[in-house]
Amino acid sequence: MSTLLRVEDLQVEVRSRRGTSLPVDGVSFDIARGETVGVVGESGSGKSLTAMSIIQLLPTRAVSMVGGRILLGNEDMAAFGPKRMREVRGRRIGTIFQEPMTALNPAFTIGYQIAEPLRRHLRLGRAEAQGRVVELLEMVGIRRAAEVAASYPHHLSGGMRQRAMIAIAMSCKPDLLIADEPTTALDVTTQAQILDLMQDLQDRQGMGILLVTHDLGVVAQSCDRVVVMRRGEVVEKRGVHALFDSPSHPYTRALLESMPTRNAGKERLPVISDSGLST
Ligand SMILES: Nc1ncnc2c1ncn2[C@@H]1O[C@H](COP(=O)(O)OP(=O)(O)O)[C@@H](O)[C@H]1O
Ligand SMILES: [Mg+2]
Repeated sequence: MSTLLRVEDLQVEVRSRRGTSLPVDGVSFDIARGETVGVVGESGSGKSLTAMSIIQLLPTRAVSMVGGRILLGNEDMAAFGPKRMREVRGRRIGTIFQEPMTALNPAFTIGYQIAEPLRRHLRLGRAEAQGRVVELLEMVGIRRAAEVAASYPHHLSGGMRQRAMIAIAMSCKPDLLIADEPTTALDVTTQAQILDLMQDLQDRQGMGILLVTHDLGVVAQSCDRVVVMRRGEVVEKRGVHALFDSPSHPYTRALLESMPTRNAGKERLPVISDSGLST
């Protein structure tokens, strides 16, 4: 399989009056086309900073990438200027975040926001973009797509907003989708539907997915391989079955033990092995 993205020895520094720290320190992994790689770890372990480093959208000027390389295909992304990065973010890497209300602009209709990247990156005309908007909304499982396209984000439920975000992320058929806690704000049923949708889009379009989550149930349902992070470092990197069958790092074992009990997640957890998650 060809490597889509390679993160090599990534280091992210945070500077404050009290000094500097390295909340991401030596993280490496890669993602192939058609593959879902999970980055898992408890809150504060450096997952989001890792994801944001890839798209060069670190949260403030006090936070910066100070070591390592990120390769998109064979190209070192450090060489990409701001203009090239804007194009990469729209066309080659799609992003979905936990809270779509912060990513969607409340002042514009859903249709406008899906059309925007189509017009900017693919240079579609107004009518053509409108047609694509409806197709994209239908693709993400939204019925009455024309009606939804004309509505504003606050008119939609959390699940619908997340579907709209996915439509935006997928609009230019990216090679890679970065999803940071995409289902954390959703109820269990909607969460399962959104994960199914991402899987379905991947089956059809073959993009790689980087799925950031603190939830091992989400990992079990969606990932092929898993990177376990703790305090900015990778403590374990395995195929999903191997990870659940025989976690090698004590931290991974502790994470697995802290998973909500079988009842809560039963319907959405696949049977991984007799000794693993299933009852
Ligand atoms: N904007 C920021 N300013 C200062 N420090 C930050 C910022 N964002 C993250 N950090 C630091 O980096 C650590 C890792 O953050 P993050 O990558 O968001 O963790 P995760 O996504 O795994 O919960 C945090 O615990 C915090 O100490
Ligand atoms: Mg995070």
